[in-house]
Amino acid sequence: MMERLISVCLWLILVSRVAGNAEGDALYALKTKLADPNNVFQNWDPTHPNPCVWFNITCNAENSVARVDLGDANLSGQLVPELGQLANLQYLELYSNNISGTIPEELGNLTSLVSLDLFSNALTGPIPAALGKLRKLRFLRLNNNSLTGQIPMSLTTIVSLQVLNLSNNRLEGDIPVNGSFSVFNPTSFRNNGLNNPPVAPQSPAIPSTASTLSGSIAIVAGVALLFSAPTIIFA
Ligand SMILES: *[C@@H]1O[C@H](CO)[C@@H](O)[C@H](O)[C@H]1NC(C)=O
Ligand SMILES: *[C@@H]1O[C@H](CO)[C@@H](O)[C@H](O)[C@H]1NC(C)=O
Ligand SMILES: *[C@@H]1O[C@H](CO)[C@@H](O)[C@H](O)[C@H]1NC(C)=O
Ligand SMILES: *[C@@H]1O[C@H](CO)[C@@H](O)[C@H](O)[C@H]1NC(C)=O
Ligand SMILES: *[C@@H]1O[C@H](CO)[C@@H](O)[C@H](O)[C@H]1NC(C)=O
Ligand SMILES: *[C@@H]1O[C@H](CO)[C@@H](O)[C@H](O)[C@H]1NC(C)=O
Ligand SMILES: *[C@@H]1O[C@H](CO)[C@@H](O)[C@H](O)[C@H]1NC(C)=O
Repeated sequence: MMERLISVCLWLILVSRVAGNAEGDALYALKTKLADPNNVFQNWDPTHPNPCVWFNITCNAENSVARVDLGDANLSGQLVPELGQLANLQYLELYSNNISGTIPEELGNLTSLVSLDLFSNALTGPIPAALGKLRKLRFLRLNNNSLTGQIPMSLTTIVSLQVLNLSNNRLEGDIPVNGSFSVFNPTSFRNNGLNNPPVAPQSPAIPSTASTLSGSIAIVAGVALLFSAPTIIFA
């Protein structure tokens, strides 16, 4: 009995270590792809049982990575697809660096993600349509990069989306107006190659002064004609 318990405990420890290492390996893959002149990765040691003690990494109660806070850290280089393995990641903050290359479509596997802040970098290529799989996303800020292609329609289906900034890129095509996009104003899209949104039809309830005036003149003329009509007939 005791032996069984001990072996179960050992197995659990082993499994949690492996899980911890898998997330550490994913983050370490990022470290190897980024130049780090300010040495922010100084204590990212791959021999640690998990990455929870690493600077700028925050874990949840189960020792799984919940935040990566590396904004404004002077990093250059590329993102890695391995980031998509951080199943409990809620905040990916890599803004205001010099990160180039494309946004890995594997980031669409980060289904716990609440905030994806990649603004003010040197990212190129398209916005992956797979980001539409991020059902908990509230903040998506990709502004101030060199992203190209169209805005994926899949993003309109993220009902949780509250803040969107795609301004200052090289995006083309139409700006979606349905779904979650119905609340975003033009400052989310400025300075791209996007088509202007269709002009909203003028509401007949608030006509311009000019048309009101000419309208009433027409009515006055019509009434005058009506009253003058008998005169015309009897004349
Ligand atoms: C990263 O961690 C270091 C050390 O704790 C801290 O000084 C720095 O402010 C952190 N950077 C960010 C962007 O959180
Ligand atoms: C960022 O790194 C570059 C070298 O790549 C260095 O010249 C510059 O001073 C650094 N900036 C900051 C704010 O640390
Ligand atoms: C930004 O990254 C590029 C390489 O992608 C590099 O040539 C350039 O020196 C970096 N700029 C700074 C300020 O670190
Ligand atoms: C992650 O996403 C990519 C591309 O979107 C997909 O091919 C891959 O199977 C996904 N991996 C997992 C573990 O879900
Ligand atoms: C983004 O780019 C615009 C235009 O170049 C600039 O005015 C703005 O300050 C930049 N914002 C950030 C957060 O980098
Ligand atoms: C918005 O419209 C596009 C087609 O124009 C569609 O693919 C997308 O699913 C729509 N989004 C929602 C939330 O209905
Ligand atoms: C988007 O970012 C630009 C540049 O930093 C800023 O001027 C604009 O106000 C932002 N818009 C929103 C909706 O956050």
